[in-house]
Amino acid sequence: MIANSNFQALSENYLFAEVGRRVKDYRLQHPEADIIRMDIGDVTLPIIPPVVEAMQRAATEMAHSKTFRGYGPEQGYDFLRSAIAAYDYVSRGVDIREDEIFVSDGAKSDIANLTDLFAPGNKVGITNPVYPVYRDSNIMAGRTEENGLLTLIECDATSGYRPLLPGKELDIIYLCSPNNPTGNTMTAAELKEWVDYALTNDSLIVYDSAYEAFIRDSDLPRSIYEIEGARKVAIEVRSFSKTAGFTGLRCGYTVVPKELKVKYADGTEVELRKLWLRRQTTKFNGASYVIQRGAEAVYSPEGRELIRKNINYYLNNAQILGSAFRKMGFQTLERVNSPYIWIKDTEGRTSWVLFDLLLSKCHLSVTPGVGFGSAGEGCIRLTGFNTLENTLTAAERLEKTL
Ligand code: MLT
Repeated sequence: MIANSNFQALSENYLFAEVGRRVKDYRLQHPEADIIRMDIGDVTLPIIPPVVEAMQRAATEMAHSKTFRGYGPEQGYDFLRSAIAAYDYVSRGVDIREDEIFVSDGAKSDIANLTDLFAPGNKVGITNPVYPVYRDSNIMAGRTEENGLLTLIECDATSGYRPLLPGKELDIIYLCSPNNPTGNTMTAAELKEWVDYALTNDSLIVYDSAYEAFIRDSDLPRSIYEIEGARKVAIEVRSFSKTAGFTGLRCGYTVVPKELKVKYADGTEVELRKLWLRRQTTKFNGASYVIQRGAEAVYSPEGRELIRKNINYYLNNAQILGSAFRKMGFQTLERVNSPYIWIKDTEGRTSWVLFDLLLSKCHLSVTPGVGFGSAGEGCIRLTGFNTLENTLTAAERLEKTL
C-alpha cells in the first residue's frame, strides 16, 4: 500500500490537537496550575431538560420490540428534517423544504465530506484566517497553494475581517458567518456580493453558519438563503453543537437546495443534492435515532427558550473577555454576534509567544491565531464557552498579571 501523499502537505497535527498536546505538557510540568481552557470551542452548559427527556424517551423505545428502531434514513428522520425546515427556515421567511435537509453527525464531518463531490481540478477559495477543516480537507484532496488549486482570500484587520471578492475565478468558496475564528458576521449586502459572484462565475459557496444562533443584530442574515439567488449556488452547513450543546452528542445538518445544479466534465447536468444523497447513503448510516429525537426537542417552545438563554450566557462571557483584553491594550471587534473573541496584539508578539505567555502567566489556554492561517499571526482566539465563573476568573487574572 502507498499512503496518500497529499497528507505530506498537511501540518504535523490538527490545530486543536496541537494546542491540547501543549496544554497537557504544561500540566505535567506544573500539576498545581489551575488551567482555564478557552482554546477549542467546547461548551460547558449541560444539555437542557427537554432534550434530555426526549432522548430518555427515545432510549426507552429502543428497549421494546414494538418501538425498537434499527437503521434509520441516511438523510435523517422526517420528524427532525421537518422541524428544521419549519423553525430554522420557513418561520423566518426562507424557502427551504425538508427534502433539501440532510441530517448528520455534525458540521465538521459534513464540511470535510463535501470534498467527495468536487472534481479534483476545482479551484477552491478559503479565507485567511480560516477554520482549519476547510483547508485541511482540501489539502487531503490534493489542493494546495503550490499547485494553484487553493487560493487564500485575505480576511484580516485591514479589511475589517471581511472576506473580499477575489480578482480571479474560483469554483468553490468557503464562507463562515458568524466567523470562526474572527467572530466577524457578514451583512446581507456583503453576502449578496458573494452570491452574485457565484452566479456570474458558476461557483459553489459552502456556507458554514454553525454559529447563526449567536446573531443578535436583527439586520444580519442568519442564512445565506435570505439572499436572492443563493438557492442556485450555495450549500449551507449547520450544527447543534454550539447551539444546543451537542459537541458530545453529535448532530448537524447540511442544506442542498433543489435548484443547485452542477455539471460533470462531460457536460451532463445533475442536482448536487442527488450526489450528496448518493454519497451519504453509501458512506453514512445516519445519525442515531436517540440523538435525533434530542435535536427535535431543541425546537419545542421550552427548548427554544432555554437554548436562547444558554446562548446569551455564552455571548455575555465573550463580551467579558473582549472588554478585559481591550482594557489591557489589545484590539478586538466590539460587536459580538459570536462566541469567539479574536484578539490582536499591538506589541508585535507572535501568536505562539502570546499562547505561552497566557498559559504560563495566567494559566489560560487560548488558540494561537496563526494556527488558522498566516493572516492570524500576532492574534489569538478565545471562546466564551467556558463557565461564567471561569470567565470572570480569567478576566481577573488577565488584569492582574498582564
Ligand atoms: C473550534 O474551536 O473552532 C471548534 O470547536 C471546532 C469545531 O467545531 O470543530
